[in-house]
Amino acid sequence: MTIIEIKIKFIKFFLVLELDASRFKLNKEVFFMKFFNREKKIKEVLSIIEGDPNLVYFIYGPINSGKTALINEIINNRLDKDKYIVFYFDLREIFISKYDDFIEVLFEEYDDDKSPIEVIKAIINDLPSLYGIPIPKNTLNEIFKKKTTKNVFRYITNVLMDIKKEGKQPIIIIDELQKIGDMKINGFLIYELFNYFVSLTKHKHLCHVFCLSSDSLFIERVYNEAMLYGRCKYILVDDFDRETALKFMDFLSEEILNKKLPNNEKELIYSYVGGKPVDIIYIINELRNKELMNILNFMLKEETQKLKYFLEDVKEEDEELYKKVVDALKIFKENYEIEDITIPKKIREFLVKRNILFLNPIEGTLKPQSFLIWNAIKEIL
Ligand SMILES: Nc1ncnc2c1ncn2[C@@H]1O[C@H](COP(=O)(O)OP(=O)(O)O)[C@@H](O)[C@H]1O
Ligand SMILES: [Mg+2]
Repeated sequence: MTIIEIKIKFIKFFLVLELDASRFKLNKEVFFMKFFNREKKIKEVLSIIEGDPNLVYFIYGPINSGKTALINEIINNRLDKDKYIVFYFDLREIFISKYDDFIEVLFEEYDDDKSPIEVIKAIINDLPSLYGIPIPKNTLNEIFKKKTTKNVFRYITNVLMDIKKEGKQPIIIIDELQKIGDMKINGFLIYELFNYFVSLTKHKHLCHVFCLSSDSLFIERVYNEAMLYGRCKYILVDDFDRETALKFMDFLSEEILNKKLPNNEKELIYSYVGGKPVDIIYIINELRNKELMNILNFMLKEETQKLKYFLEDVKEEDEELYKKVVDALKIFKENYEIEDITIPKKIREFLVKRNILFLNPIEGTLKPQSFLIWNAIKEIL
């Protein structure tokens, strides 16, 4: 390779990183401009990070409750960048169906003769976190060829040890981990990964590991996994409770509408969408040019229609199942949250899988994924 070629490759590599950095900035703006509250959870996560790595942490909760936002707030604004190096893998929008896809998520290749730690040191100052572990192209090719996770993990461990030697604490965060839950390489990849995470935390105390997931059946599987007994902990990030939801409305309405909403309106919003951050943000934004009742009715209508068509499909497929599903959902007419085993396992899992219900396997509870779905259930049944 000529010097020019090397230079071009080098520039390309940093260009890609640059693009990654701007994607991150973009992401931050898609999030609401300011993060709200969650002080208790932030403190909890920070105090874990300040200690020695010892356990694998699972951050779980209903869809759109703010798990990703919480972690991003911590990475962007709460962590001392001189002390920590964060690797953040977001599996959400990535299609992973085979070993090579997984490897591509993990690594960021480069082809000069620097060491991975030198590459990290050169780029980390401009970034809140890294999206991939830097790896020399040749090494990556080797790893692609070998098709075993052993080499992958060995390489990562070495990089993590180099980071530690520099006096910094590495942190690995994997968002929407369930996306590789069913993937097989030699047996299930997820078990190899859990084993590796346990070795990084409990055994080597080398790196913090946080896994995020909205998929409660996946969390249930994790919870029942003997390999993880006593080696992991769970942090629930739920929708806001009533008091916090009302404060969030104040916070947003002052930011977006430059005014406070009257209490009755806030209570009305809460009765429709509860403490789901994303729904509250939507409503306050819509209030700039729409009537509150119209916004709320529209949202409920949409959710009701979705549920109606869902039930229609179930009925068409399987009349027996339909009856059981309706019976199960009727329980929520009187209750928002019930004990999980109130609904038979098969039906429960069916409704959880279809994102109608959220299962909390740690507490042993079951509730609709959102207040909106809860209201739709009450509307239809
Ligand atoms: N504490 C918060 N303050 C401001 N916005 C929030 C907060 N929590 C969540 N959100 C917003 O709600 C939306 C959904 O949150 P997200 O973190 O993506 O949910 P999850 O990862 O739990 O599915 C995001 O757009 C996020 O910006
Ligand atoms: Mg998320």
